[in-house]
Amino acid sequence: MSSFHDLALLNGSIVLPDKTVQTTLYLRDGLISAIGENAPTAHRAAQTLDCTGLTILPGVIDTQVHFREPGAENNETLESGSRAAVLGGVTGVFEMPNTTPPTTTLEALTDKLNRAHNRMWCDHAFYIGATAYNAEQCGQLETLKGAAGIKIFMGSSTGDLLVSDDLTLERVLRSGHRRIAVHAEDENRLQERRSYRVENDPASHPVWRDDQTALQATQRLLALARKIRRRVHILHVSTPEELALIAQYRDIATCEITPQHLTLNAEDAYVRLGTFAQMNPPIRSAAHRAALWQWIDQGLPDVIGSDHAPHSREAKAKPYPQSPSGMPGVQTLVPLMLNHVAHHRLSLRRFVDLTSSGPQRVFGLVRKGRISIGYDADLTIVDLKAQWTIDPQWLASRCGWSPFVGERLIGKPIGTFIRGHRVMWEGTLADHPIGQPFRFEATEKP
Ligand code: DOR
Repeated sequence: MSSFHDLALLNGSIVLPDKTVQTTLYLRDGLISAIGENAPTAHRAAQTLDCTGLTILPGVIDTQVHFREPGAENNETLESGSRAAVLGGVTGVFEMPNTTPPTTTLEALTDKLNRAHNRMWCDHAFYIGATAYNAEQCGQLETLKGAAGIKIFMGSSTGDLLVSDDLTLERVLRSGHRRIAVHAEDENRLQERRSYRVENDPASHPVWRDDQTALQATQRLLALARKIRRRVHILHVSTPEELALIAQYRDIATCEITPQHLTLNAEDAYVRLGTFAQMNPPIRSAAHRAALWQWIDQGLPDVIGSDHAPHSREAKAKPYPQSPSGMPGVQTLVPLMLNHVAHHRLSLRRFVDLTSSGPQRVFGLVRKGRISIGYDADLTIVDLKAQWTIDPQWLASRCGWSPFVGERLIGKPIGTFIRGHRVMWEGTLADHPIGQPFRFEATEKP
């Protein structure tokens, strides 16, 4: 049988779940319609695109970004953040609730979805922030269309969302069924240790927010989650001790790691970047980083999220600890991780596991995360051999800086396809944004 496709991507190396094959990939009506010349329905397409020398990956999904709209549009907007995403090869994002106002109600979620419509360049979902005031509503709020689920801040960070005590934590965990994403730093310990912060010395940030601060919160969370039988997802894990603990809770727990924690180290970062390397949880020692890499080989963590958290240069340049925590990262996630692939720190297949199939598996995304017939034609097309340097001109985030400017890398995003649309090619964007809300198994009837 022959059939007519919208587009044939010719000669790319296509990363399938089991192997990489150099062949043709056909797209039709926003979906992957055939793989390879011998496919039962292959052969004719309205348009072709030569992908010789390029590698075609399933679309990269970044499950942790802060796009600051509404409330801090000087730092980022849903438009600028998602533009940075697609320029960096990211096809979808989950956006965090610590905006102003925070995303804690149906109205706030609807407002974000309305703002996203016709303005976001990539597919998206928005987290609902848990508080003591909406704890009992979380089970209802998490089922809303466009919601990524519930997010809990156990330790205070940017904004004032906070669920620091076990009683409120339990109320939130008991409300609803979806996997809950958690920033696990213990608020009591953070408060007790405030005196560890040294004026003007960002290197004291990981001393204040030490390993025990993260581990203690993760311990409390996992014990409670297993008692209640609630699935949790621990964001930006920064210590090997937490990973060893999570390994004992795989019935209920998944977790995320960031490119920053895998790339930067305290000994160098605070000297070279000062407060611009400040984030929560903090960048820790080179020994921590080496141990995190060992865990990557164990199949844990499940996903990589950028924790894209832009703040203006002026704010970041304030003396520590007045300086805010967070750095941008959605546009540099794919480049940094491809560079790690080039240096054999992880395989390309594990990269796909962490950035496409992992997010799909952990969050139950419909028709995403895999190059498979009938799935959404979301593709991150890369040149694994390209050698280049991150230039400030390339960056789209409104914050206008990145800790990785000047970094020489091997591996570059060349194209971003979302549901069959060519949204970015060689740094040039399509005419208009076409991002849509993600669909989740948990909130949709088949
Ligand atoms: O460093 C961080 N910045 N960690 C967070 O948890 C929040 C984020 C932000 O929103 O700035």
